[in-house]
Amino acid sequence: MNIVKLNEKHLDLIAKLHKENFSEEHTTFYLREELIKEYYRQFFREDEIFFLGLEDNGKLLGIILGGNKNKLAYCKEKFIKDHKKSLTKNILVSTVAKPKFIYKLFYERIILKFLYDEKIKKNIDLSNSYNILSIVIDKSKRRKGLGKILIYEFEKLAKKNKKEFLTLSVRKSNESALNFYKKIGFIPYKETNIGIYFYKKIKI
Ligand SMILES: CC(C)(COP(=O)(O)OP(=O)(O)OC[C@H]1O[C@@H](n2cnc3c(N)ncnc32)[C@H](O)[C@@H]1OP(=O)(O)O)[C@@H](O)C(=O)NCCC(=O)NCCS
Repeated sequence: MNIVKLNEKHLDLIAKLHKENFSEEHTTFYLREELIKEYYRQFFREDEIFFLGLEDNGKLLGIILGGNKNKLAYCKEKFIKDHKKSLTKNILVSTVAKPKFIYKLFYERIILKFLYDEKIKKNIDLSNSYNILSIVIDKSKRRKGLGKILIYEFEKLAKKNKKEFLTLSVRKSNESALNFYKKIGFIPYKETNIGIYFYKKIKI
């Protein structure tokens, strides 16, 4: 098993892994594979964004994507801006096929936002950090320590770039990820209507 730096040639494998392993809860679940590829393509064009994979005999078992928070946000916004038409069409089709989807969006983004006050659990300066945007391990290979390997590899990268912290956010409903992050040393610092925000201090 090797850790590899992913590039555009891996996009088919990345999109397949994404499609097969993110649950319905994830915002991108309803996207067509072509759009998922376009989503990930953005991230190869920026420096200070790292995209690593765990490969075994040509099979991609897991991926981790993260880096400079502003650059990650820029890529996400650019994707939405550049693919407005396809995204709208994709969402409309999903809405017809799965009306629950639009109800969920409405409930989370509007009702819960109104009902729920953001809670700061810990005031901490996280400006010198790298953010982890996503990590996925193939369903058939979970609970074998692979997620931990990817996070530790990412941590090494952050340390090399003199970062003090790793940060990330996770949906409250994603119990396995919540357990995973807590187990490997992430600490919650903020809670919103949808998610919990974590940080981890990088050991010097
Ligand atoms: C979260 C995820 C990456 C964890 O990967 P993994 O390879 O299964 O994790 P590891 O085997 O390295 O787990 C390390 C420890 O975390 C905890 N953990 C991981 N998954 C868990 C689960 N489903 N339930 C409870 N604890 C869990 C355990 O303590 C585990 O150690 P143990 O197996 O010795 O008890 C994986 O479940 C996944 O890909 N989920 C779908 C995508 C996702 O939700 N990503 C996160 C949001 S971006």
